[in-house]
Amino acid sequence: MEYNYHIMRQMDMNFIHELGHLIHYINVDLYHIHDKLKSVDENEELLSILKSTIHNAEEMNKMFRVYREMLIPRTDKKEIFSINEIVNDVLDVLRAKIQREKIRINFEKSNPNLKVFGNPGKLLNVFLNLILNSLESVRIAKNKINEINISVLDFNKSIKITITDNGIGISKENIDKIFDITYSTKHTPGSGFGLAVAKFVVEDHFSGKINVSSEVNKSTTVTIIIPKSNEKN
Ligand SMILES: Nc1ncnc2c1ncn2[C@@H]1O[C@H](COP(=O)(O)OP(=O)(O)OP(=O)(O)O)[C@@H](O)[C@H]1O
Ligand SMILES: [Mg+2]
Repeated sequence: MEYNYHIMRQMDMNFIHELGHLIHYINVDLYHIHDKLKSVDENEELLSILKSTIHNAEEMNKMFRVYREMLIPRTDKKEIFSINEIVNDVLDVLRAKIQREKIRINFEKSNPNLKVFGNPGKLLNVFLNLILNSLESVRIAKNKINEINISVLDFNKSIKITITDNGIGISKENIDKIFDITYSTKHTPGSGFGLAVAKFVVEDHFSGKINVSSEVNKSTTVTIIIPKSNEKN
Protein backbone atom coordinates (compact mmCIF):
# COMPACT_ATOMS: atom_id res chain seq x y z
CA MET A 1 0.00 0.00 0.00
CA GLU A 2 1.16 3.51 0.69
CA TYR A 3 3.89 2.08 2.92
CA ASN A 4 5.59 0.55 -0.12
CA TYR A 5 7.04 3.98 -0.65
CA HIS A 6 8.61 3.85 2.80
CA ILE A 7 9.97 0.36 2.18
CA MET A 8 11.54 1.48 -1.09
CA ARG A 9 13.10 4.45 0.64
CA GLN A 10 14.28 2.26 3.48
CA MET A 11 15.86 -0.18 1.05
CA ASP A 12 17.65 2.68 -0.68
CA MET A 13 18.89 3.87 2.67
CA ASN A 14 20.08 0.38 3.60
CA PHE A 15 21.92 0.16 0.32
CA ILE A 16 23.56 3.53 0.92
CA HIS A 17 24.43 2.50 4.48
CA GLU A 18 25.98 -0.79 3.31
CA LEU A 19 27.87 0.88 0.48
CA GLY A 20 29.30 3.35 2.99
CA HIS A 21 30.55 0.50 5.18
CA LEU A 22 32.15 -1.24 2.19
CA ILE A 23 33.92 1.86 0.91
CA HIS A 24 35.24 2.56 4.38
CA TYR A 25 36.44 -1.05 4.64
CA ILE A 26 38.31 -0.82 1.35
CA ASN A 27 40.06 2.33 2.54
CA VAL A 28 41.11 0.77 5.84
CA ASP A 29 42.31 -2.44 4.14
CA LEU A 30 44.34 -0.53 1.58
CA TYR A 31 46.16 1.34 4.35
CA HIS A 32 46.94 -1.97 6.04
CA ILE A 33 48.25 -3.50 2.82
CA HIS A 34 50.37 -0.41 2.22
CA ASP A 35 51.90 -0.52 5.72
CA LYS A 36 52.57 -4.27 5.57
CA LEU A 37 54.12 -4.04 2.13
CA LYS A 38 56.31 -1.14 3.16
CA SER A 39 57.72 -3.05 6.10
CA VAL A 40 58.56 -6.24 4.17
CA ASP A 41 59.32 -5.11 0.66
CA GLU A 42 60.86 -2.11 -1.00
CA ASN A 43 59.08 -2.74 -4.30
CA GLU A 44 58.73 0.90 -5.38
CA GLU A 45 56.53 0.16 -8.36
CA LEU A 46 53.99 -1.78 -6.32
CA LEU A 47 54.00 0.87 -3.58
CA SER A 48 53.37 3.63 -6.08
CA ILE A 49 50.44 1.72 -7.65
CA LEU A 50 49.05 1.19 -4.17
CA LYS A 51 49.43 4.89 -3.32
CA SER A 52 47.44 5.86 -6.36
CA THR A 53 44.76 3.24 -5.48
CA ILE A 54 44.56 4.69 -1.97
CA HIS A 55 44.18 8.16 -3.44
CA ASN A 56 41.32 6.95 -5.68
CA ALA A 57 39.63 5.13 -2.81
CA GLU A 58 39.79 8.29 -0.69
CA GLU A 59 38.27 10.30 -3.51
CA MET A 60 35.51 7.70 -3.83
CA ASN A 61 34.87 7.98 -0.10
CA LYS A 62 34.59 11.78 -0.31
CA MET A 63 32.29 11.64 -3.33
CA PHE A 64 30.15 9.04 -1.63
CA ARG A 65 29.75 11.20 1.48
CA VAL A 66 28.62 14.18 -0.59
CA TYR A 67 26.12 12.07 -2.55
CA ARG A 68 24.84 10.42 0.60
CA GLU A 69 23.98 13.84 1.99
CA MET A 70 22.05 14.58 -1.19
CA LEU A 71 20.34 11.18 -1.46
CA ILE A 72 19.09 10.60 2.05
CA PRO A 73 15.64 12.15 2.06
CA ARG A 74 15.02 14.94 4.50
CA THR A 75 11.22 14.87 4.31
CA ASP A 76 9.55 14.72 7.65
CA LYS A 77 5.88 14.42 6.74
CA LYS A 78 3.81 13.43 9.75
CA GLU A 79 0.67 11.32 9.62
CA ILE A 80 -1.49 9.02 11.72
CA PHE A 81 -0.56 5.39 11.16
CA SER A 82 -0.79 1.92 12.66
CA ILE A 83 2.21 0.33 14.35
CA ASN A 84 1.00 -3.14 13.30
CA GLU A 85 1.43 -2.19 9.66
CA ILE A 86 4.90 -0.80 10.17
CA VAL A 87 6.04 -3.98 11.95
CA ASN A 88 4.53 -6.05 9.13
CA ASP A 89 6.40 -3.96 6.57
CA VAL A 90 9.70 -4.54 8.37
CA LEU A 91 9.02 -8.29 8.58
CA ASP A 92 8.26 -8.26 4.84
CA VAL A 93 11.58 -6.58 4.08
CA LEU A 94 13.42 -9.15 6.23
CA ARG A 95 11.37 -12.21 5.21
CA ALA A 96 14.10 -13.87 3.12
CA LYS A 97 16.71 -13.42 5.86
CA ILE A 98 14.33 -14.72 8.54
CA GLN A 99 13.55 -17.84 6.49
CA ARG A 100 17.17 -18.45 5.57
CA GLU A 101 18.30 -18.23 9.18
CA LYS A 102 15.28 -20.24 10.43
CA ILE A 103 14.17 -17.67 12.98
CA ARG A 104 10.81 -18.13 14.64
CA ILE A 105 8.95 -14.82 14.79
CA ASN A 106 5.90 -14.44 17.01
CA PHE A 107 4.06 -11.23 16.38
CA GLU A 108 1.23 -10.33 18.73
CA LYS A 109 -0.66 -7.54 17.00
CA SER A 110 -2.63 -4.83 18.71
CA ASN A 111 -6.15 -3.75 18.02
CA PRO A 112 -5.81 -2.23 14.49
CA ASN A 113 -7.37 1.03 15.67
CA LEU A 114 -4.34 1.84 17.79
CA LYS A 115 -2.47 4.55 15.93
CA VAL A 116 0.39 6.95 16.50
CA PHE A 117 1.24 10.29 14.93
CA GLY A 118 4.58 11.00 13.29
CA ASN A 119 6.72 10.06 10.31
CA PRO A 120 6.16 6.35 9.52
CA GLY A 121 9.47 6.00 7.66
CA LYS A 122 11.40 7.02 10.78
CA LEU A 123 9.66 4.42 12.94
CA LEU A 124 10.13 1.79 10.24
CA ASN A 125 13.84 2.53 10.37
CA VAL A 126 13.83 2.09 14.17
CA PHE A 127 12.09 -1.30 14.05
CA LEU A 128 14.28 -2.43 11.19
CA ASN A 129 17.39 -1.77 13.24
CA LEU A 130 15.97 -3.37 16.40
CA ILE A 131 14.95 -6.52 14.57
CA LEU A 132 18.29 -6.65 12.73
CA ASN A 133 20.03 -6.40 16.13
CA SER A 134 17.91 -9.31 17.39
CA LEU A 135 18.57 -11.38 14.27
CA GLU A 136 22.29 -10.87 14.68
CA SER A 137 22.15 -11.72 18.37
CA VAL A 138 20.23 -15.00 17.91
CA ARG A 139 22.46 -15.91 14.98
CA ILE A 140 25.52 -15.73 17.25
CA ALA A 141 23.76 -17.49 20.16
CA LYS A 142 23.00 -20.59 18.05
CA ASN A 143 20.14 -21.86 20.23
CA LYS A 144 18.13 -24.86 19.13
CA ILE A 145 15.24 -22.52 18.48
CA ASN A 146 15.97 -18.92 17.58
CA GLU A 147 13.08 -16.77 18.57
CA ILE A 148 12.01 -13.16 18.33
CA ASN A 149 8.76 -12.12 20.02
CA ILE A 150 7.15 -8.86 19.04
CA SER A 151 4.08 -7.45 20.72
CA VAL A 152 2.10 -4.26 20.31
CA LEU A 153 -0.16 -3.54 23.29
CA ASP A 154 -2.69 -0.97 24.39
CA PHE A 155 -1.07 0.80 27.35
CA ASN A 156 -3.29 3.50 28.86
CA LYS A 157 -2.85 6.59 26.70
CA SER A 158 0.10 5.02 24.95
CA ILE A 159 1.10 2.02 22.89
CA LYS A 160 3.71 -0.34 24.24
CA ILE A 161 5.86 -2.27 21.79
CA THR A 162 8.26 -4.96 22.96
CA ILE A 163 10.82 -6.90 20.97
CA THR A 164 12.40 -9.83 22.79
CA ASP A 165 15.02 -12.21 21.44
CA ASN A 166 16.68 -15.26 22.95
CA GLY A 167 20.10 -14.20 21.69
CA ILE A 168 23.44 -13.61 23.41
CA GLY A 169 22.19 -10.79 25.65
CA ILE A 170 24.09 -7.75 26.91
CA SER A 171 26.17 -7.67 30.09
CA LYS A 172 25.48 -5.26 32.98
CA GLU A 173 28.74 -3.38 32.23
CA ASN A 174 27.72 -2.78 28.63
CA ILE A 175 24.03 -2.08 28.89
CA ASP A 176 24.58 1.59 29.74
CA LYS A 177 26.72 2.06 26.63
CA ILE A 178 24.42 0.66 23.98
CA PHE A 179 22.78 3.98 23.06
CA ASP A 180 26.18 5.54 22.52
CA ILE A 181 27.03 6.06 18.83
CA THR A 182 30.58 4.90 19.43
CA TYR A 183 29.51 1.61 21.05
CA SER A 184 29.28 -1.47 18.87
CA THR A 185 30.46 -5.05 19.12
CA LYS A 186 30.14 -5.46 15.36
CA HIS A 187 33.25 -5.34 13.26
CA THR A 188 31.89 -3.27 10.42
CA PRO A 189 33.34 0.23 10.46
CA GLY A 190 30.68 2.87 11.07
CA SER A 191 28.52 0.59 13.25
CA GLY A 192 26.92 1.76 16.46
CA PHE A 193 24.37 4.25 15.16
CA GLY A 194 21.30 2.00 15.23
CA LEU A 195 20.21 2.38 18.84
CA ALA A 196 21.38 6.00 19.08
CA VAL A 197 19.13 6.87 16.15
CA ALA A 198 16.30 4.74 17.61
CA LYS A 199 16.48 6.68 20.90
CA PHE A 200 16.51 10.00 19.12
CA VAL A 201 13.53 9.11 16.91
CA VAL A 202 11.43 7.60 19.72
CA GLU A 203 12.10 10.39 22.22
CA ASP A 204 12.36 13.47 20.04
CA HIS A 205 10.11 12.64 17.14
CA PHE A 206 7.42 10.53 18.85
CA SER A 207 7.69 11.94 22.41
CA GLY A 208 8.09 8.36 23.61
CA LYS A 209 10.46 6.28 25.68
CA ILE A 210 12.82 3.42 24.89
CA ASN A 211 14.39 1.00 27.31
CA VAL A 212 16.54 -2.11 26.97
CA SER A 213 16.82 -4.88 29.53
CA SER A 214 18.85 -8.02 29.12
CA GLU A 215 20.26 -11.16 30.65
CA VAL A 216 23.50 -12.54 29.24
CA ASN A 217 23.06 -15.73 27.20
CA LYS A 218 19.34 -15.60 27.77
CA SER A 219 17.38 -12.71 26.32
CA THR A 220 17.18 -9.05 25.41
CA THR A 221 14.01 -6.99 25.48
CA VAL A 222 13.59 -3.58 23.92
CA THR A 223 10.50 -1.72 25.16
CA ILE A 224 9.14 1.33 23.39
CA ILE A 225 6.25 3.42 24.66
CA ILE A 226 4.67 5.93 22.30
CA PRO A 227 1.63 8.14 22.97
CA LYS A 228 -1.48 7.27 20.96
CA SER A 229 -2.55 9.76 18.34
CA ASN A 230 -5.65 11.84 18.97
CA GLU A 231 -8.22 9.87 17.04
CA LYS A 232 -9.39 12.80 14.92
CA ASN A 233 -8.07 13.02 11.34
N1 LIG B 1 19.22 -7.54 20.70
C1 LIG B 1 20.50 -7.43 21.08
N2 LIG B 1 21.15 -8.48 21.66
C2 LIG B 1 22.43 -8.38 22.04
N3 LIG B 1 23.18 -7.26 21.90
C3 LIG B 1 22.61 -6.18 21.33
C4 LIG B 1 21.24 -6.21 20.90
N4 LIG B 1 20.93 -4.98 20.38
C5 LIG B 1 22.06 -4.25 20.49
N5 LIG B 1 23.07 -4.95 21.04
C6 LIG B 1 24.43 -4.47 21.34
O1 LIG B 1 24.45 -3.06 21.26
C7 LIG B 1 25.41 -2.62 20.29
C8 LIG B 1 24.91 -1.33 19.68
O2 LIG B 1 23.76 -1.56 18.85
P1 LIG B 1 23.44 -0.54 17.66
O3 LIG B 1 22.22 -1.01 16.96
O4 LIG B 1 23.43 0.85 18.22
O5 LIG B 1 24.72 -0.63 16.75
P2 LIG B 1 25.21 -1.85 15.85
O6 LIG B 1 24.08 -2.83 15.68
O7 LIG B 1 26.47 -2.36 16.44
O8 LIG B 1 25.54 -1.14 14.45
P3 LIG B 1 24.51 -0.45 13.42
O9 LIG B 1 24.89 1.00 13.37
O10 LIG B 1 24.73 -1.16 12.12
O11 LIG B 1 23.11 -0.65 13.98
C9 LIG B 1 25.55 -3.79 19.34
O12 LIG B 1 26.81 -3.78 18.68
C10 LIG B 1 25.43 -4.98 20.30
O13 LIG B 1 26.64 -5.23 20.96
MG1 LIG C 1 22.15 -2.15 15.10
